[in-house]
Formats: sequence, structure tokens, C-alpha cells
Amino acid sequence: MPCLPPYTDGVVTIFLDRQPLPRIAVVMLAVAFLLTGCASGAAPATYETSASSGLETGFGGSAADGAAADGAAADGAAADGEAVAGASADEPVGVPAEATPGIDLAAHSPTDPASPWVVVNKRVAVDPVDYEPDLTTVRGYLVRPDVAPDLTALLAAAEADGVHLTLRSAYRGYSKQAAVYEGWVAQLGSAQADAVSARPGHSEHQTGLAVDVGGSSRPQCDFEPCFGDTPEGRWVAEHARSFGFLVRYTPENKAVTGYAPEAWHLRWVGRDLAGYLSETGLSTLEEVFDVPGGDYRR
Ligand code: DAL
Ligand code: ZN
Repeated sequence: MPCLPPYTDGVVTIFLDRQPLPRIAVVMLAVAFLLTGCASGAAPATYETSASSGLETGFGGSAADGAAADGAAADGAAADGEAVAGASADEPVGVPAEATPGIDLAAHSPTDPASPWVVVNKRVAVDPVDYEPDLTTVRGYLVRPDVAPDLTALLAAAEADGVHLTLRSAYRGYSKQAAVYEGWVAQLGSAQADAVSARPGHSEHQTGLAVDVGGSSRPQCDFEPCFGDTPEGRWVAEHARSFGFLVRYTPENKAVTGYAPEAWHLRWVGRDLAGYLSETGLSTLEEVFDVPGGDYRR
């Protein structure tokens, strides 16, 4: 049974919403918490989740961050001067929503850009925005050294299953992300660009923890919604978590992530956390670490 600290919904209901319990019941609950190690959790941070505010929903189609990244983008492009939206003081981040046996959600920071569990989204920028991770290469693409063994294993496992995944994009520095984003703004306008491409400072690709994969069966579907219907897309959806990767942007979590679905964008978090998400039925890092999600503030 999951360890249920006293701040989780169920127990809060017992303590706060109902009539005071008899003294013996309070003592029994306290003993139960001590015996199960559940009594030491800190109170959670709470704040609005901003799930659907301003989310771009009209874009249906052909957008692709990596396509622009590999095509029009050029390092050295000027930043667009976009303000960086970080978490404010009244919206603390990083306090795990709940404790669970088998994983310590406080083991790695959700705010340190060097952490494998850093959360980067429209509301929370990489800090500093021009952070440069340690990098190594996998099949010629730059990723964090932490990522390389699992990425190599994932690609090999797909091959062993007769599925030929390709890498299409991986690490992008601030200036590259700025150029990619500006390319989409020029093509689609800023509202639709925001649905498919992160503003500079806000991309997981800047951490070295994200890759975009493609497929050999229908390369024309790379960076396209139809990638999810290819053998490669289906394989990734089924197996990525076994190798520590999340398909980060899905139709179901669009309101939380703020992005149109990207069946090709894989974010490495390690196998323990990926397994935790599967066990709990959660699909976003925002929910796991109680971090603001949704659209930009402006
Ligand atoms: N396409 C994703 C959201 C990025 O630009 O990081
Ligand atoms: Zn991506």
C-alpha cells in the first residue's frame, strides 16, 4: 500500500474536513504513521495548476521543432528578448506531491538544470536560461552523459524488435532554440508557434535530456502527428518508459504541458521515475513535482 503522508487528500479529509476523531483513533493513526515511516513528510506546496489558460488549440498539424532545428535554425541568432517566466515566490516548486515506496522524489532537484529530474516548461525556464550541460554523443547527436546508456539501449532494443528508429534532434543551446522558435514564429505566427516550439530558455532540449526520434518506415511522418501511427511511434509509446524516457507531450496531457502532442519528443528522467509515473498513472513531471504548468504567463 502506498505510504500516505498526512497531507495527501485522503488523510487531510480525515483531519480537516470531518468531525474530530476519538482520542484512541488519533493515537492509532499516529502509531500507524510512525510504523510505516509516513510521518515525516513535509507539507506540500499548493498553487494553481493553470491547466488550460490560454492554451493554443487551433493548430492541427505539420509543426515540428526538430524540422526547424535541423533546417532553418542557425546558432548565433539573436535572442528574441522574451522575458523568462520562472516560478514566483508564492509558487514554490520542488516539493514532491506525495511519498511512495520504492522512490525518493526528493532524491533529485526539479529546479537544478543539472538534475535528471529538472522540470522545464512554459512557466518554468531553464535557470540560467543559457545553461550549458555536459554533453556526449549518441549516433552523432549531443545528449547528457546520463542519457547515453539508456538511449543507446532503447535504440538497440528497437532494432532487435525490427523497428528502425532514427535520431532527428537532441541538445539545442539557447541561441539555437531562439532561432528554431523564431523560424516557427515567422512561419506560423507567435500563437501557433507557441503551441509547437518552446521559447528560448524554455526548451527541454536545452538541458541535453530530450531527443526527437524519427522512423525509417515513413520518414515523411517525422515530426508530424502521423509519427504516432508508425511502427516506430507505436514502439516508442509502448517501450520508452522501460528505458527511462517519457513521451512528454501527449494528447491527454496537453493542458498541463501547454504543447500540441509530440509522439517523437522523448524526455529522459531515468528508469526509476519513469516507472513511478507508470505505477501512479501520472503522465507529467508537473504533476509529480507539483510544478506549475500550462501556458506562458504572457
Ligand atoms: N517542441 C518542443 C516543445 C521544444 O521546442 O522544446
Ligand atoms: Zn523535441
